[in-house]
Amino acid sequence: MELSKEFEQKFRSAKSVCVLTGAGVSAESGVPTFRGGGDTTAVWKGMPFDQISSARMVSENLAEVWEWFDYRRGVLSKCTPNPAHETLAKWEQDFSEFTLVTQNVDGLHARAGSKNVIEVHGNINRSRCLGCGVRFDMDVGSVPHTPVKCNECSGNLRPDVVLFGEMLPAGVFEEAVEKAAVCELFFVIGTSALVYPAASLPEIAKRNGAYVVEVNPEKTPLSELCDESFRGRAGEILQEITRVF
Ligand code: OAD
Repeated sequence: MELSKEFEQKFRSAKSVCVLTGAGVSAESGVPTFRGGGDTTAVWKGMPFDQISSARMVSENLAEVWEWFDYRRGVLSKCTPNPAHETLAKWEQDFSEFTLVTQNVDGLHARAGSKNVIEVHGNINRSRCLGCGVRFDMDVGSVPHTPVKCNECSGNLRPDVVLFGEMLPAGVFEEAVEKAAVCELFFVIGTSALVYPAASLPEIAKRNGAYVVEVNPEKTPLSELCDESFRGRAGEILQEITRVF
């Protein structure tokens, strides 16, 4: 793989690095993406994923929402981190300032050893009470989910994931914006870059002078903005970059 001199120089000298990942970073682990070619789960029981994963479905048919999330948790329980997750966990140790922001709810970055992960869309192995807001961790392999009712107030639990029609959790995105605005090098990896506000992070980094690098087998709406685009699978490209240095 050809790395430009400019990229090599930036990668070697960068003190602060920020990374945004999307579903593509988990594709090599066997986790279906949402959009694009390959192994996607765009429709479930005849419903598009943005309908079943919506705030409206939580109020109209919570049981069905859980059925869909338990199905996804079942698929995920058989998946393990891939070289892309592992490389990013290593980069956290290598760079003096490193921020990993993920849109993924699969928890695979943490399972690969990343310590600080900003999960802007929540986590599929956590539930939240609709009554009192308390959160519960669920075991990766516990399908169907337990507990079913809140231990504190007996309210109904919902997945602690940002659904279509909902705001991001307070404070979480702001922290990501702060880091994106001050980093020298920004990687945008495995995301179709269609879902905002997450997709605005590379734009913020670029506006503030960062060198922005995309890793994706396909072109995205952000490709034009990027200083460099590596076309290929995240696991292979990230390992390749690390090998060169
Ligand atoms: P998408 O499914 O929209 O996009 C996946 C991207 O990964 C595409 O651009 C693919 O080309 C790329 N890709 C596929 N295989 C890859 C590989 N091996 N290496 C690198 N890239 C690869 O996923 P996101 O952009 O993450 O929201 O979707 C954003 C949000 O939309 C998700 O977080 C989810 C969904 O609604 C919530 O769950 C709230």
